[in-house]
Amino acid sequence: MNRRAILGPLAILAVWAADACTSSPGAVPAKSEVQPPSEIVAFKVLYRENCAGCHGEDGKGGAASALANPVLLAIADDSVIRRTTAQGVAGTSMPAFAQSAGGMLTDRQIDSLVEGIRSWANPDALGGIVPPPFRAQTPGDPQRGADVFRTYCSSCHGADGRGGKKASSVVNGSYLALVSEQHLRTIVIAGLPELGAPDWRDDVPGHPMSEQEISDVVAWLSSQRPQFPGQPYPLPADRAEGEHR
Ligand code: HEC
Ligand code: HEC
Repeated sequence: MNRRAILGPLAILAVWAADACTSSPGAVPAKSEVQPPSEIVAFKVLYRENCAGCHGEDGKGGAASALANPVLLAIADDSVIRRTTAQGVAGTSMPAFAQSAGGMLTDRQIDSLVEGIRSWANPDALGGIVPPPFRAQTPGDPQRGADVFRTYCSSCHGADGRGGKKASSVVNGSYLALVSEQHLRTIVIAGLPELGAPDWRDDVPGHPMSEQEISDVVAWLSSQRPQFPGQPYPLPADRAEGEHR
């Protein structure tokens, strides 16, 4: 481990320790003993009570993906994290937390969450490599994406994506029905380190995916979505009318 890698965590520890002193344990709270929930701004408490159930303790991942993922935090800036936390992601289990979007948290609490999650970033983790942008810059082509999948993904997920020796199906309708296209892109770029899924550099080691390949494979995955989630058989044409998502 180089000096930098050791000093980083130490610096964080020092800041944390300093923090802990200002709100010295054992000190009698000046005002009321019980803090109204809307006045809690401590990141640790907010995160534990609102996010850890899905994203895991300290952002390490659980039912939902890890937030303390250095590639994710390199591509998702403050505004992305703020918007997702405040407004949620429609059509998925990611809730909207801002009061303005029907949630329970104030703007100050959202700011604290953004700042706290941001503090998990590790700018040195990528060693100066610039990752592909969070948002797609070019539309993807599902047909090309099928080839991209064979090149970069089938070694683990199987030739047709239905699961292989090293990873499960990615064309499972009940999975695809509940995940946003952006999140599929995020997984392809940032991986799921907590589950052993590689980032965009390591699907084929030494051969990072290009921006276009990423957009294409995401378009292919998206094209595998069930047209009518939860509906195993095609609907008769008259009922299908106007129900496209
Ligand atoms: C009920 C489960 C659940 C809870 C609780 C939850 N999330 Fe999420 N979160 C998700 C899911 C699922 C996604 C992926 C959504 C998608 O498909 O785009 C997500 C995505 C995100 C993303 C985008 C990152 C990415 O990889 O796509 C951020 C940032 C995020 N959540 C922050 C939070 C914060 C902050 C909290 C707490 C205030 C929170 N989440 C609570 C389920 C949850
Ligand atoms: C070295 C093996 C490997 C390669 C190559 C790989 N993945 Fe994965 N992937 C995993 C593992 C492991 C997981 C997590 C566990 C699981 O789903 O089996 C995963 C999870 C995923 C998930 C989330 C599935 C879920 O149920 O949460 C998606 C989406 C995904 N991969 C897409 C891709 C795409 C697209 C590619 C090619 C660009 C790819 N993967 C290449 C190993 C791999």
